[in-house]
Amino acid sequence: MSETVVVIGGTAGMGLATAQTLSREEYRVVISGRSQATIDKALSQIAGNCTGFPLDFTDSSSVASFFEQVGSFDHLALVGSGQTAWGSFRDLKLPDLKVAFDQKFYGFFLCTQAALSKIRSDGSIVFVIGGTSRSAIPGTTGVAAVNGAIQAMAFTMAKELAPLRINILSPGLVDTPVYDWMTSEQKADFFKQLAGDSPVGRVGKPDEIAQAVSFLIENGFTTGAILDVDGGGRLH
Ligand SMILES: NC(=O)c1ccc[n+]([C@@H]2O[C@H](COP(=O)([O-])OP(=O)(O)OC[C@H]3O[C@@H](n4cnc5c(N)ncnc54)[C@H](OP(=O)(O)O)[C@@H]3O)[C@@H](O)[C@H]2O)c1
Repeated sequence: MSETVVVIGGTAGMGLATAQTLSREEYRVVISGRSQATIDKALSQIAGNCTGFPLDFTDSSSVASFFEQVGSFDHLALVGSGQTAWGSFRDLKLPDLKVAFDQKFYGFFLCTQAALSKIRSDGSIVFVIGGTSRSAIPGTTGVAAVNGAIQAMAFTMAKELAPLRINILSPGLVDTPVYDWMTSEQKADFFKQLAGDSPVGRVGKPDEIAQAVSFLIENGFTTGAILDVDGGGRLH
């Protein structure tokens, strides 16, 4: 496999797992992280043909410089995170919601637009959103809005930008470093409470998301699709 995949947010969690999986599958992989230190740490955990460059997706000049360094490539996976706006709708603060949009929504927008001059015209883009946009979980209106906005944009992009394929991966709760601020007991309780009664009965692993990203990149007949990888957690 000589195709190149760019993984935005490839230094941790699902992005790191995606880079590891694609690298094992013999793609050439380019990861981003906000600092050289996180990139170097991630590269030490990825076997195969992988490089990385700094990128902060809230900064358009950083985004432009990243894609200049990458050059031509075949597929883009947007897995990065950012500050989120949790809390009930009644208490949601406009500045917090604006920051959340500035980070994940406008960040993904800036990266995707900058990528268009470099990505293969019939390559593919995968946006990682989150089950919140379609699950009606109280306390997640802000997160749902950001993820839902990406989803809405992506469907139209799939027609406008064809033959470039545009797909969405919607993970449920996945055990990534995002939850490392909790003790292991707190984390176990939290995961059990939120995922214990889902059909699969547990939270996801970053590798399970990575496999799904790989499928969306590989399958040339899939575009404008949402792939739910959530252990059935959305089925209430
Ligand atoms: N974990 C879950 O349960 C869950 C559930 C549903 C959806 N999601 C979504 O899935 C995606 C991956 O989540 P995760 O838990 O794997 O995240 P994570 O472990 O927190 O990883 C975040 C990645 O995003 C990068 N990043 C953060 N801010 C950035 C910025 N301003 N510019 C560029 N890169 C930035 C980080 O890079 P550096 O730190 O190296 O800078 C890191 O590589 C996110 O979009 C998240 O919203 C997560």
